[in-house]
Amino acid sequence: MFGRMHLRQQVVVSICLVHLITLALTTTILIVNARDAVRLEIDAGAKSARALVLSTLGYALQQSPPSEVLPYLAETLVEPRHVDIALLDARRGVLPLRKMTRTEERTSVPGWFVRLATPAPRETRIPIESNGVLHGYVSMTAAPGDEIAEVWQDVSSMFWIVAGTALVSVLVMVALVNRALLPLDALRSALGQLRRGNHAIRLGRSTSLDLIPIFDGFDSLSEALDAAETDRARLNRRIVELGDAERRSIAMELHDEFGPCLFGLKVKASAIARKAETTKDTALAEDAAAIQSIVAQIQASNSRLLTTLRPMAIGQLPLTDALLDLFEAFRKTHPDIDWSVNLPDALPKTREITDLTVYRFFQEGVTNALRHGKPTRVMVSLSEEETGAGPVLHLCVEDDGLGMSDERNEGRGLTAMRDRIRAVGGQLSIDAADGWGTKLQSSLPLLTSDVPLSDLRDAS
Ligand SMILES: Nc1ncnc2c1ncn2[C@@H]1O[C@H](COP(=O)(O)OP(=O)(O)OP(=O)(O)O)[C@@H](O)[C@H]1O
Ligand SMILES: [Mg+2]
Repeated sequence: MFGRMHLRQQVVVSICLVHLITLALTTTILIVNARDAVRLEIDAGAKSARALVLSTLGYALQQSPPSEVLPYLAETLVEPRHVDIALLDARRGVLPLRKMTRTEERTSVPGWFVRLATPAPRETRIPIESNGVLHGYVSMTAAPGDEIAEVWQDVSSMFWIVAGTALVSVLVMVALVNRALLPLDALRSALGQLRRGNHAIRLGRSTSLDLIPIFDGFDSLSEALDAAETDRARLNRRIVELGDAERRSIAMELHDEFGPCLFGLKVKASAIARKAETTKDTALAEDAAAIQSIVAQIQASNSRLLTTLRPMAIGQLPLTDALLDLFEAFRKTHPDIDWSVNLPDALPKTREITDLTVYRFFQEGVTNALRHGKPTRVMVSLSEEETGAGPVLHLCVEDDGLGMSDERNEGRGLTAMRDRIRAVGGQLSIDAADGWGTKLQSSLPLLTSDVPLSDLRDAS
């Protein structure tokens, strides 16, 4: 249990335990010493009382007959400390002392302490007799009450001094431990930020000598992570750019080489078809028709492939126009859906990598909504915001469909989207839409043609 406590609690519990043990030992020693002190004092008191009584008795016997000695003692004897004197006269009974010195005002002492400190009761009797006749006797019994009250005052003051010192030292220790552990709180929060991707976090120099190597180690680690993350982002961007360039060159190849060849094939097949018609060669006419149909199929899939590899509009039209074309195409294939399209009237001339990223975001986001969500409404929006770090584009695709299941696995679509967005220094978030459905959002810097790509940082 102790092992599972925080260091702060361990220190406090340990110090409290040590002080409690010290306090218990001190109290025991104080009580034992008090007991001895009471016994010694009572013994001394008994001796001096006995001497006092004997000397007063000797003097009284000179002054008066033995039968009158006890009344004489009652008049003259002063009761000493720590001893109760009783005069028992055979004829007159108990005679009270006239000169009582003890006051009855006493501090209240707890019963357990009185029981512990009171020595065994002891009575001494001095008989007064003459010619074989007992006139009475003087009885002396120990009266430790005053002494016990005095000792109790010492013991209790000592106890509170020790207890107060212990309390102060615990408080001082807790304050010191808290102060010493304060930098660890900073370290814990910095580690949390590092885990959440804030690689710019640095702790600086610790005020605690013991923690300087740990803080320095943390800063070196976050610097290394920062550098690695910058490299990763640069590499990621490079991969996306190379992929785009590769696709662009394949699309060009397909367009410039396949296109004319297919057109040539189509023309030749039409010529053969015309010839077959004039020669009434039905077999040749059928073959020519088959070639024409195959060519048409290849042309259709070539055109689809071209669009997938590189949307024709990108690079040709402004981004907003290319997006309007895209949404128009979706609207035509899905007329039952309630579309809401919110685009800015115009955007500054953006970099091609940004255009492609925005276009692919909407293309994949809307395709996913239609394919997986079965929605009745799809809302798309694009807006521009001026921030301290430059203009930013906010992208959103929201549907009222089935929503993402918790066990979904990201396919190539979302993974490629995230990579693209990261490559341009943006962020992607996928949430449940208000009510139900899915809300796909992204923010990315609006890169105009004059921003060097090397300036980009991965902000995700
Ligand atoms: N709008 C949406 N509504 C409901 N589920 C969605 C939505 N978007 C994505 N999903 C879920 O997320 C999964 C991953 O989507 P992702 O686009 O990565 O892959 P995919 O669409 O299945 O395949 P592809 O690689 O062809 O895009 C989907 O299979 C689907 O279960
Ligand atoms: Mg998909």
